[in-house]
Amino acid sequence: MEDELKRLEQEAAAEIDALDSSSLESFRVKFLGRKGLFSTVMRQLGQVPKEDRPRLGQLANVIKHNIEERFEQKSVEISTPSSASGASEDLSLPGRSVPFGKLHPVTQVMEEICSIFEGMGFAVAEGPDVELDRYNFEALNIPEHHPARDMHDTFYVSDSILLRTHTSPMQARIMEAQDPPLRYIAPGKVYRCDSDITHTPMFHQVEGFLVDRNVSFADLKGVLTSFTQKMFNDDLVLRFRPSFFPFTEPSAEVDIACVICGGSGCRVCKRTGWLEILGAGLIDPEVLKMVGYDPDVYSGFAFGLGVERIAMLKYGIDDIRLFYENDLRFLEQF
Ligand code: PHE
Repeated sequence: MEDELKRLEQEAAAEIDALDSSSLESFRVKFLGRKGLFSTVMRQLGQVPKEDRPRLGQLANVIKHNIEERFEQKSVEISTPSSASGASEDLSLPGRSVPFGKLHPVTQVMEEICSIFEGMGFAVAEGPDVELDRYNFEALNIPEHHPARDMHDTFYVSDSILLRTHTSPMQARIMEAQDPPLRYIAPGKVYRCDSDITHTPMFHQVEGFLVDRNVSFADLKGVLTSFTQKMFNDDLVLRFRPSFFPFTEPSAEVDIACVICGGSGCRVCKRTGWLEILGAGLIDPEVLKMVGYDPDVYSGFAFGLGVERIAMLKYGIDDIRLFYENDLRFLEQF
């Protein structure tokens, strides 16, 4: 029996070395199971001479215990391969860094714009990208066949539904639903069928407007001057140029002194020293009447600024399409 035990020990040890995950269970059944080889040999203990029994019993226990232990160890090795394979790992190596995503530069600039206006007491509202013709045009004093519609290169969904071409419909939506005083900004995506180095078919605007008693053009100038100085630098100069929008009267386009050359003239400002950043004006009395406000009691101003345009000026980017090509080498710089 002693020989048999030793032979069993050797055989089991050799098999343990060759075990893999698929043969673990069959090994256990063959050697260690209730009807396994080990139990079979142990059962012979009853037939050996009495005086040999304690010694052989003890030996059998030690051997069985050894085999069980090696089997346990092997099982653990197999389930955690890399540490068990004995391959040396350099624990001083730096960890592999996980690439972090971050906000798109346009989103970052949009959030910055919003937080500046929020600091001046404006509330934020968002409206639908798919808009009714009524809000995008009619309610803004741009009736059917009005020539101003041509400037908008509109994507139509149906006769009366379109992708909004500007954020100005939010003026009409909010005024229709609430009474003055109102002080809102409305950030979001707008769409125009246009594409070149300064235009993409989708871009972002932030609309702003304020309606109350006795609102004047001076209020508009004050708010826009504070905004641009916070956005760019404290002594930035603004220029208000007369312009036309059907929903504001008087209307202006606002330029800032070129942030690239400081106003002396360069390629970016086309040698004029000025860069256009927004359209604005006092809300046309016709627009106020359409939402049921009395233009003799209330007046207001509105402005709409292009977010990509501001981001380009802030970071000196000369091609708007870079924002939408998803090149990580570009995006990671912000
Ligand atoms: N909606 C105008 C545009 O997209 C900008 C604007 C907004 C002008 C508000 C005046 C007042 O061009």
